[in-house]
Amino acid sequence: MNDLSRRALGLSAVGVAAFAAMRASVAEAQTAGGTWFDMVRAHHTLIADNLVMILATSDSQVAERTRLQKHLGYLLTAHSVAEENVLYPALARLGLTQASDQLYIEQAHAKVGNADLEVTPKGDDAWLAKVSALKTAILHHAKDEEEADLFPKLAAGVSARENAMLTADYARQFASVQRV
Ligand SMILES: [Fe+2]
Ligand SMILES: [Fe+2]
Repeated sequence: MNDLSRRALGLSAVGVAAFAAMRASVAEAQTAGGTWFDMVRAHHTLIADNLVMILATSDSQVAERTRLQKHLGYLLTAHSVAEENVLYPALARLGLTQASDQLYIEQAHAKVGNADLEVTPKGDDAWLAKVSALKTAILHHAKDEEEADLFPKLAAGVSARENAMLTADYARQFASVQRV
């Protein structure tokens, strides 16, 4: 992207570099060759980093906010498709039905929150306050519930063969969502 098109989009040089790095790390996370849990942690980090970047923008950077939020929508969709089609059903099969149901509900709320960001004017503090609330909810769901509690139980509760199947299925489902 040259200086002219960057200025036309209202993107700072730092924003462009960070955005490019984030896009590259999505591909990296997909091809890292780790377990499903490694991919989940990598995708959580990408989502958290994206939210931090949005919160660092000023009210005048509407184009950058729009671009970052569009990418956030992609990350949330790809990650949620993989979790909802692969990992949450596996939690339910393990007997953690209530917890699985709760994760689906929280993820639905995150989608409502993200959709709200799309229709709220991005040039004022009210939009940023909504991003901040969404970040708090997403990080609680991802860090406190999934990473610290439920996903360790899933990884330990199924066989090595099923863990390998979950890894292949998670990667395939995540990659099925078209990147933006
Ligand atoms: Fe989740
Ligand atoms: Fe997650």
